[in-house]
Amino acid sequence: MNRRNFIRLAGGGAIAAAAAGTLAACGVLDSHYPAEAVEAWQGPVGETEVRRRAVAYAITAPNSHNLQPWLVDLREDGVITLRTDPGRVLPQTDPLGRQILIGHGAFLELLGMALAEQGVASQVLLWPQGEMPAALKDWDDRPVARITLQPGGQPDPLFAQVLLRYTPKTDFDTTRAVAPALLAQLLNSAPANTPLRCGGTVNADQLPALRTLCWESARVELLTPRTMMESIHLTRVGPAEILQHRDGISINSPFVRAVSALGMFDRSAPPAEGSAAYKNAMGRFEGHSSTAMGFVWISGPNTRSDQVRAGRAYVRQQLQATALGVGMHPMSQAVQEFAEMAPHYERVHQLVLGRPAPRTPQDPTVQMFCRIGYPQGEVPATPRRPLARFMHT
Ligand SMILES: Cc1cc2nc3c(=O)[nH]c(=O)nc-3n(C[C@H](O)[C@H](O)[C@H](O)COP(=O)(O)O)c2cc1C
Repeated sequence: MNRRNFIRLAGGGAIAAAAAGTLAACGVLDSHYPAEAVEAWQGPVGETEVRRRAVAYAITAPNSHNLQPWLVDLREDGVITLRTDPGRVLPQTDPLGRQILIGHGAFLELLGMALAEQGVASQVLLWPQGEMPAALKDWDDRPVARITLQPGGQPDPLFAQVLLRYTPKTDFDTTRAVAPALLAQLLNSAPANTPLRCGGTVNADQLPALRTLCWESARVELLTPRTMMESIHLTRVGPAEILQHRDGISINSPFVRAVSALGMFDRSAPPAEGSAAYKNAMGRFEGHSSTAMGFVWISGPNTRSDQVRAGRAYVRQQLQATALGVGMHPMSQAVQEFAEMAPHYERVHQLVLGRPAPRTPQDPTVQMFCRIGYPQGEVPATPRRPLARFMHT
């Protein structure tokens, strides 16, 4: 290989220099997301109706694989009915729909905060027609929540962080430790009056085992064809795809865009071991795992309502992290319930709760498991679909 004719790109691959020149001319080397794809982060521009304004904030909630699985019904005056968008679930990596419901909890929390900010109190009734069945395949269109609006509403100081909260899916700076006092502030944001518990560590003795758990569990997800394919189908590469979908796993890095633009990103099968796409995906997870400067987790019982509560607590904790200037990034692989993950599911419970994996919905269950640290560069906002797409009509 003539080394001068190849350009090495972040992500560990190389492409021909001539091709890179063409790609640069096409803008492939600019890694910013298209402005329209991230317009949700401007807040409810031009919206005047109280509920629509609140929903415009709520759609910025964190949610797994950025599927944005929420559908709201505003046809009844003074009420918002929240349902799951049936096509926006993850049967392979989230076979019980637990993570999808965590995303609903985060949505409900932001919705309530955004209503309160407008002087409106809300009463949330979960599962007005009964809980979702245990298996995702049996889910129907029953509402997750019915939210009734009333005068009142107590503004929440964390609301100021809503449009600033971005999940840092990047390596952290290993020269900056997270102070124990900051961890304590983060853990204090846990809501009172719930069975949930928040835990965490920045203890150097505990980090290696937890970093290894992240990396080994990520390898299982990446090497299990059906879970890897679930992610590949949701991967959007480059501005055109990101703008077309405004959901899923948006990748705008020069390396992956170059590989895709050159027709070298095969989406019909898991990337072959040793291929550029394989090394890129592995490298990303390895970097995330090894640069974790601490961990935080939320645990508690595991009924459908607990899952929603965990989402409410999670987004509050991430808003608190935003206020404190520290990055908080879920590494959910070990807490996923598909069969191949079972050894790591057991291990995460042993490591953070000191007990076996749960056998019943009443047993303590790790609902969220995140790494914390300081991102090395700017963290971009992740795309959201237009507001109208979330409205049941
Ligand atoms: C239940 C749940 C699980 C998540 N798991 C992961 C994960 O394993 N890896 C990851 O990069 N992000 C994970 N995230 C974060 C989402 O990818 C992120 O919220 C989504 O892409 C939207 O980005 P934003 O939070 O910056 O708005 C998770 C979020 C939730 C709510």
